[in-house]
Amino acid sequence: MPLSSLISSLPKAELHLHIEGSLEPQLMWDLAKKHAIRLPYASVAQIEAAYQFADLQSFLDVYYAGASVLLDEDDFFKLMWSYLCRCREQNIVHAEIMFDPQAHTGRGISYQTFMPGFIKAIARAEDEWGMSVKLILSFLRHLSEEEAFTTLAQAKPYYRFIEAVGLDSSEKGHPPAKFKNVFARARQLGFKVVAHAGEEGPSDYIWQAIHLLGVDRIDHGVRCLEDPALVSLLRERQIPLTVCPLSNLKLKVIKDMGQHTLFTLLEQDLLVTVNSDDPTYFGGYLNKNFNVLHEALNMDAQQLRKLVSNSFKASFMEDAQKQHWIDKVNAYF
Ligand code: HPA
Ligand code: ZN
Repeated sequence: MPLSSLISSLPKAELHLHIEGSLEPQLMWDLAKKHAIRLPYASVAQIEAAYQFADLQSFLDVYYAGASVLLDEDDFFKLMWSYLCRCREQNIVHAEIMFDPQAHTGRGISYQTFMPGFIKAIARAEDEWGMSVKLILSFLRHLSEEEAFTTLAQAKPYYRFIEAVGLDSSEKGHPPAKFKNVFARARQLGFKVVAHAGEEGPSDYIWQAIHLLGVDRIDHGVRCLEDPALVSLLRERQIPLTVCPLSNLKLKVIKDMGQHTLFTLLEQDLLVTVNSDDPTYFGGYLNKNFNVLHEALNMDAQQLRKLVSNSFKASFMEDAQKQHWIDKVNAYF
């Protein structure tokens, strides 16, 4: 079987996906029309053409502007539903999905609007094809810790639908240390904990995420290679890294895909996974991320097998469920 066919047919988990970053240009266009919102684009093609970024911040500016078309419960349902349908097409059987409450509450849209939309779409996918989904509430790190506390408190009616808390948005100048107290509170409440670290920011932010936030997983983390002691710690503790190749390329963390260090990380026995981050902005869903690794870095079948098994191993599923999927993956080889 050609590797691209194997990539599409294998059951996979996706662990690093921002739901707001899966907003398709066509849906953005339709929702703007529905709500009579003026977009700075004259066509769907112009929206797509605008997705050229110099760095993380230039992307985030476009990403938050795009999210402004999401106003009512049905908009959030459609956003989630569209991504879950993509999962079905791509054989993503389990997804751990981040959402940015503050990107909405900051515009006067409450949890009571977006959570029912998300929850209904997830329930339907679970029901219709047995997809499994967990939600990760992510704090915006360019805002204050006090605002993160408020965001966590506002989520209270929905705690049973949320698996973990995370940390995203502008990394440089906003170290994990800034959110030490709110992460301690989230852990006390029983949430799992993840954080973006070492994407654009220094490897020291990965140390902080581990020691000050007590993370179960690091999102990105590619800059760990700058610090051998950190690589040893990540290996010993098998702290997963949710790596996003197309994202790293689009945000100029790397110059070309041939320079991506994902396989260096894998060779060092780190628990590396492949993910799409913000697929509509970065040019591809999960299978495309695997395909570019094959094309640019000659990923072979054994490396694919390892990465896909890792996606289940690094997830927040129950152990028996992880093993069920890892056995299915192994059956392909
Ligand atoms: N990095 C940081 N924050 C984000 C990202 C990302 O890639 N996507 C959405 N928010
Ligand atoms: Zn991300």
